Amino acid sequence: NDVPQLSFTGALPQDARIDQLVAEAHARYAGHDDGVVADYIPILAEADPAWFGLSVVDVDGGAHAVGDVGVAFSIQSISKAFVFALAADEIGHDTIRETVGVNNTGLAFNSVVAVELNDGSPMNPMVNAGAIATTALVPGAHADERWQRIRDGLSRFAGRPLALDGEVYRSESFTNHRNHALARLLQSYDRLAIAPDEAVDIYTRQCSLAVTAQDLATMGATLADGGVNPLTGERVVSAQTARDTLALLASCGMYERSGEWLFEIGLPAKSGVSGGIVAIAPGKGAIGAFSPRLDEAGNSVRGQRACAFLSRTLGLNLF
Ligand code: DON
Repeated sequence: NDVPQLSFTGALPQDARIDQLVAEAHARYAGHDDGVVADYIPILAEADPAWFGLSVVDVDGGAHAVGDVGVAFSIQSISKAFVFALAADEIGHDTIRETVGVNNTGLAFNSVVAVELNDGSPMNPMVNAGAIATTALVPGAHADERWQRIRDGLSRFAGRPLALDGEVYRSESFTNHRNHALARLLQSYDRLAIAPDEAVDIYTRQCSLAVTAQDLATMGATLADGGVNPLTGERVVSAQTARDTLALLASCGMYERSGEWLFEIGLPAKSGVSGGIVAIAPGKGAIGAFSPRLDEAGNSVRGQRACAFLSRTLGLNLF
């Protein structure tokens, strides 16, 4: 709150000013040591807690980056936003709303109780149950075809071919018992379109794709630009799907903290347990942040502070 707030109606500042503010955000929060690195997926515990990368990509393709923007990390839950977009683009707004849902659970991202409390509905595509159900809706004749479609789609959002981090995939595959439980629970309610083991395996792969903060900013800027990647010029999803994705991120992207996030920062966003955050300013651009220390909800602490600073100083808050 000591940071001046620009009006949202203004255009983005000049490039040199954006560079300066991204550098200032990095310098302000690089020394903040609150939060802990996730360890429930064993390999994630090996991340360097000091890593901190920040990138802003605007809808004209301008890129502004500071810090560890080239460090690759697994995309984790941030994949949920982009796989949702790919699935919704294929099967439509109404089907997603009816079969997965679009309301916040108010509970943790891996909650089993949330499913039970809602007659077997996974509630929304941004919690694990809903993401597994959404992954199962991606068209394909078999598992490999679905996986290729997801990897290619996420690569088009990033504007470069994304690769699987095999170490993360194996580490998570050996320990993701709860996700298997969630998938079986959905199956028991007849709410999973494919076999539970297959759905969890593809979901685990999508979470293990390696990205950088720069990639996150580009992926977010594609949603900000109505579904067109501003670096490659390629249309990745329709404008309607980009809008639907942003609406979901506003209500569900930061889990049970989504209300607080919107109240403070005023942007649709998605976080992941490896420390990434993407925050999107529709029509303007996106912030990609990466720093592995997390708060109790699983959101990067430095990433949240940097997004708050940039939202205020760049005038991105929607409200
Ligand atoms: O399924 C999981 O638990 C992880 N692959 C992803 C969780 C995640 O990133 C939640 N984030 N805050």
